Amino acid sequence: MDDHVIIFDTTLRDGEQAPGFNMNLNEKLRMAEQLERLNVDIIEAGFPIASEGDFFAVREIAKRTKKSTVAGLCRTKFQDIDRAWEALQHAKKPRIHTFIATSNIHLKHKLNKTKAEALKDAVAAVKHAKSFCNDVEFSAEDATRSDYEFLYDIFSAVIEAGATVLNIPDTVGYSLPWEFGELIQKLNENVTGVENVILSVHCHDDLGHSVSNSMMAIKNGVRQIECTINGIGERAGNAALEEIVMSMRTRPDSFNCDTKIVAEEIYPASQLLSEITEVNVQPNKAIVGDNAFAHEAGIHQDGVLKNALTYEIMTPESVGVPCNKLVLGKHSGRNALNDGLTKLGFAVNKTELQEIYEAFTALCDAKKKVTSDEIAGLARKIHSKSKKIENTENQQQFTEA
Ligand code: KIV
Ligand code: ZN
Repeated sequence: MDDHVIIFDTTLRDGEQAPGFNMNLNEKLRMAEQLERLNVDIIEAGFPIASEGDFFAVREIAKRTKKSTVAGLCRTKFQDIDRAWEALQHAKKPRIHTFIATSNIHLKHKLNKTKAEALKDAVAAVKHAKSFCNDVEFSAEDATRSDYEFLYDIFSAVIEAGATVLNIPDTVGYSLPWEFGELIQKLNENVTGVENVILSVHCHDDLGHSVSNSMMAIKNGVRQIECTINGIGERAGNAALEEIVMSMRTRPDSFNCDTKIVAEEIYPASQLLSEITEVNVQPNKAIVGDNAFAHEAGIHQDGVLKNALTYEIMTPESVGVPCNKLVLGKHSGRNALNDGLTKLGFAVNKTELQEIYEAFTALCDAKKKVTSDEIAGLARKIHSKSKKIENTENQQQFTEA
């Protein structure tokens, strides 16, 4: 089995679809450049038929992208596929990504189609896409709530029609990790020709399992993961790229595969997305949140000062975070306070440190956040007080002598 897990980034398509994450052309181009620095294998640049804006963004990204494959999304309608190809045609490596829903609930209430009709549409769409480009991905929307027998049929049929990638979306984030793993296993056993295509997953986070489901998929032979920076996407979002990549990097003992992502570009990508969309990352977000490498508890700070491995399973630098943060707050100990004072330029003795520590904890009890200016103020006050005492003692010694 191939040990390369393909990263298919859909920040600019599924991510951008989410409320509050709209990006204009220039912003999308900046983001696409950063995705290339990150070395993602595929950039899903948009849904060309959805709007003029999407069309032009996909077209520009397709023209400018040097290394990554550029994908455009389309339904199975021929006009969608034609429009997608119009946008993608100048890409060095284009991919047409076509999809149709396969669950009973979507077929009945959304599409008003029978399974046979959906299968026919899917096959026709793949053949049509194939007339433009060799790289064609087919997605069975709402796969995890679909009849498995129907998934076997439709996937086998689109492989025969020429699909090169089969995507299994957990569109509404409904699946549990063990169920999802089992589904992949069953697809591997029952889809005709599956050994000739790449299996992909696209997991949403409605129950918070998107990354775990993606991990289970990898364990069961999936070699393409669809994900987004900061986990943005429809509703609760998609699987977060940074969590997927760093799970594999941090636990090679559990994976016989890896991605080609340049991990040091993860944090810059996360920051750029926040800056562009003006949406902050939640502080406790894994890998890229403000607190991901911050320590406030005294015992933790003491451990990190002695050896960061005590409370960090990866280095901040490995994901592009400048350095870890020892946050000085009411849970901090004397060691961390001393470290903070040194960084602020104060060399204090044991008695002074104790005095500053007492004043500092009293201030922490009174306030939510104590700033470094306030800490410096305390240090200055206590420092000059002990200087005065020192001078008086010296004077006394002088007088006595
Ligand atoms: O969530 C989903 O099913 C999708 C597909 C179009 C891949 O975004
Ligand atoms: Zn999606």
